[in-house]
Amino acid sequence: MALFDWNDSYSVGVQELDQQHKKLVATLNQLHQAMLSRQSREAIGTLLSQLVNYTNSHFVDEEQYLARTQYPKLAEQKKMHGNLSKQVLEFVGRYERGEIALDIHLLDFLRKWLMEHILEEDKEYGPWLNKAGIR
Ligand SMILES: [Fe+2]
Repeated sequence: MALFDWNDSYSVGVQELDQQHKKLVATLNQLHQAMLSRQSREAIGTLLSQLVNYTNSHFVDEEQYLARTQYPKLAEQKKMHGNLSKQVLEFVGRYERGEIALDIHLLDFLRKWLMEHILEEDKEYGPWLNKAGIR
């Protein structure tokens, strides 16, 4: 069973951003698999840095869409992105320093982290971008 099962209720109504969210979900599922099959620290480290990189470029893209359409809550969204990036970077740093293991608690944290980002923050901008003709 996958850690995070994507379904249409996670769609924000903008194709490119949905694709990026799916990529983040897929990376999390890969991390879950890597944990279950006890892959090397190196392999897991690579996946974790992928997650950080995808997250950062996703936030940049999202903010560009929102800036372009003068989204009224852009500042708020940016602040949340900053917090989320910081959280994930902190965890990855702790993993890299050997302070924590990639276990189900960490994965569960990341799953909730991503779910809340999509369902609570991103869902809100969907109709706004759609209204501006972005789908
Ligand atoms: Fe997002």
